Amino acid sequence: MAESVEETLVLVKPDGVARNLTGEILRRIEAKGYALTDIRWVQASRSLLEQHYAEHQGKPFFEPLVEFMESGPIVAMRIAGERVIEGFRSLAGTTDPTTAAPGTIRGDLGRDWGLRVQQNLVHGSDSAASAERELGLWFARR
Ligand code: RTP
Ligand code: MG
Repeated sequence: MAESVEETLVLVKPDGVARNLTGEILRRIEAKGYALTDIRWVQASRSLLEQHYAEHQGKPFFEPLVEFMESGPIVAMRIAGERVIEGFRSLAGTTDPTTAAPGTIRGDLGRDWGLRVQQNLVHGSDSAASAERELGLWFARR
């Protein structure tokens, strides 16, 4: 029997939605060959964001990060494919958009806006355990 295909959570953060880059981001994911298996438009609650970013609680950027993430709608996507967790992190580029490599989502489409937290367009789960936990948060059965 085939292994079940790996899945990851991708979020188009409020800056990406506000800049009308949702389509461009999904285009890059699809062009790479990954499959969109669920999608949801979410105005995230503080409770959801505190759970999502639990690992960053207590860090200086935590409060600005949560405020940024609740500042507007987010598009949450379930993306599937072999090694997609690692593959999407590679497509996204490194956290700081100023130095993220050209060719990546953050490197091509992001920049520093001089704000209290880096606005970097996308989130991607960073491990299999994170993906399972985060998909459960953002795509909980309603
Ligand atoms: P993400 O979780 O959103 O996919 O991003 P990441 O793994 O690349 O970065 P992470 O270290 O998990 O940080 C989460 C988000 O917090 C903001 N951040 N700003 N020093 C800063 O200004 C700073 N550090 C982190 C970013 O929005 C980052 O994506
Ligand atoms: Mg992270």
